[in-house]
Amino acid sequence: MNSICKEILSDLYYIGANDRETELFENMLPLPRGVSYNCYLIKDEKTALLDTIRINKSGGFIENVRNILDGRKLDYLVVQHMEPDHSGCIKEVLEVYPDVVIVGNKRTKTMLYDLLELEPSDDKFMEVNNGDVLKLGKRELNFVMTSMVHWPESMVSYEPNDKVLFSQDIFGGFGTLDGAIFDDQADYSIYQSETRRYYANIVGKYSMVASKAVDSVKDLDIDIICPVHGFVWRKNPEIIIEDYRKWSNYETEEGVVIVYGSMYGNTESMADHLAQFLAEEGVRNVQVFDCSKTHFSYIVSEIWKYKGLILGSATYDNSVYPNMYNLLNLLKHNKIKNHALGIFGSYGWSGGAVKDLKAFAEGSAFDLTETVVEARGTMHEKELEGLRKMAKEMAEKVLEK
Ligand code: FEO
Repeated sequence: MNSICKEILSDLYYIGANDRETELFENMLPLPRGVSYNCYLIKDEKTALLDTIRINKSGGFIENVRNILDGRKLDYLVVQHMEPDHSGCIKEVLEVYPDVVIVGNKRTKTMLYDLLELEPSDDKFMEVNNGDVLKLGKRELNFVMTSMVHWPESMVSYEPNDKVLFSQDIFGGFGTLDGAIFDDQADYSIYQSETRRYYANIVGKYSMVASKAVDSVKDLDIDIICPVHGFVWRKNPEIIIEDYRKWSNYETEEGVVIVYGSMYGNTESMADHLAQFLAEEGVRNVQVFDCSKTHFSYIVSEIWKYKGLILGSATYDNSVYPNMYNLLNLLKHNKIKNHALGIFGSYGWSGGAVKDLKAFAEGSAFDLTETVVEARGTMHEKELEGLRKMAKEMAEKVLEK
């Protein structure tokens, strides 16, 4: 029995599960602190379940729905997002409540078939659009389409009577709910980096639309935010709104992330010297990562946080180091903006790494330092001076003066 159930307000319930077993979210992103899958049940003149949870943690889920409904039927299943971590138990719900009306948008209906082979008849599917309202009794759900945050069919629901926003992936984060369901029951500072890693790697690519979505919901009068991952925000929802506003607008903090790919330590040594020079220039938050060791999701999350980024690579088969190549692709894919960039590397016997890094810089929206450093193998005094100069230029770009 994984399922947890908690009353949020009278006749509004949290139902969810903690997943500490899945190693990789989307089979790609490590989950050292796990993740929670949340959904919500409203009992009014009509009853409505908003989303479900992932099937691997479905133990006790339907029992909780049944217990809360206490013999009543389920009138609506609102599907805000079809990714399987939330649509995973739709079939279980339909088995127990075959007369339920699924509420979603046009894309939801297509995806119900594409992902679950479900073809609800017209009287079992209610198509909603932006601004549509579903009356439940004294409560109602106002739908806001948030396409591409995180998938094309994504939408959120606002309940104006109790000022509750059911925000699906938006305002979510990694990390299980360890006893605390609500933001006021735990210390968010412990969760914040995992929330940012979730944002940067799941939502980040869609920051332009995420920013618009955050804008469109932040003007609502919100007392409680109910996302599908992470805390229910009932005390300080403005904290998570502000974090998402900042991240979706690529607002950064003072600091520099140095990422290097090195085989035998020459490029690593350049990274270490750069870090030292940056510290001497007064940059307090300098973080150095080996792209062969630290999972990219952590690196991307730190890059999202800090204004400065310096990439260093050994030359490998006439081009950039393979793990650095993957990171460059990811940075391009995630369309990260508003960063100062520095590049350095080693030439090897034919060069290639710095040439590739320069090509990346030219195709990016980053503000490149004037100085680029390339050592033939191990660095000498000339390259050391270059690194010192690059550190100075980078410090000028990232330090708030
Ligand atoms: Fe948590 Fe986009 O699914």
